[in-house]
Amino acid sequence: MSAKILDGKKLAESLRAEVREGVTKFGLEHGRFPGLHVILVGEDPASQIYTRNKEKAAAEVGIRGKLHVLPVDTSEAELMALLDRLNTDEEVDGILVQLPLPKQIREQRVLDAIRPEKDVDGFHPVNAGLLASGRPSLVPCTPRGSMKLIALADKRLEGARAVVVGRSNIVGKPMAQLLLAANATVTMAHSRTSNLPAVCREADVLVVAVGKAELVRGDWVKPGAVVIDVGMNRIELPSSIAGDTKKTKLVGDVAYDEVKEVASFITPVPGGVGPMTIACLLENTVIASQARGAGHNPAPPTRRGQ
Ligand code: GUN
Repeated sequence: MSAKILDGKKLAESLRAEVREGVTKFGLEHGRFPGLHVILVGEDPASQIYTRNKEKAAAEVGIRGKLHVLPVDTSEAELMALLDRLNTDEEVDGILVQLPLPKQIREQRVLDAIRPEKDVDGFHPVNAGLLASGRPSLVPCTPRGSMKLIALADKRLEGARAVVVGRSNIVGKPMAQLLLAANATVTMAHSRTSNLPAVCREADVLVVAVGKAELVRGDWVKPGAVVIDVGMNRIELPSSIAGDTKKTKLVGDVAYDEVKEVASFITPVPGGVGPMTIACLLENTVIASQARGAGHNPAPPTRRGQ
């Protein structure tokens, strides 16, 4: 039997409709709309697409978005000066610096410089620490969106075995924290894990965020598992399919065609986690604006990460 598809595009649409209502309410109460500032340094093609999509999505729900595009040779001091200005601008509720940054800029210094209450990416150590302590915080968007997709699968997380493959600060670590907060028994696996296929096979919920095209095969998955594929890898099609012209295809970290025959629910790539990440960024912007408007630290939604 083939797995049911967790449709991130559709779920993101309904989340954006909710966010739009929150934006309107905030506008009526505060006489201004939530403001999201996105900073792109350099010309990385993937980052250009991501930041443009974020700007467009913000505008569509009524958030006042601004995209700052800085040249590739921008100094760390110049970027810090911009962050300083945005940190103290009362009309700016959310700040996001697109990663990766050019070599001359220390990523950690930059992320640490964003005020935690405006850190809509949830990457600041204060927000990471609050999340790890099970306290209200701005939660990173991709894990947050992944939790909402798992909720769609109606999988009881309490007592379930969850395996997160990948230990990045952006996805793997916060994902594990959210699953733990939902009372799952969580294993974090990574590139040095021995016998990774066997570890994955224990998972009732398997989240893969490693950036390796189609790493997880059908026989790595427990029958009936919920599989969340965070990967976005552009691969070249073999010439037997593409002919003489170079053709590329977007695939996840999961071999979709194999795994969908084993899992009960699976996210597609594209159209799974990706759209949820952007919708959650918009949601985080509204949460940050409401919390700042109310003059206290961001409150979580009714259920953590969902
Ligand atoms: N680069 C890849 N993913 C992300 C993300 O979620 N946020 C930021 N700021 N940069 C990224």
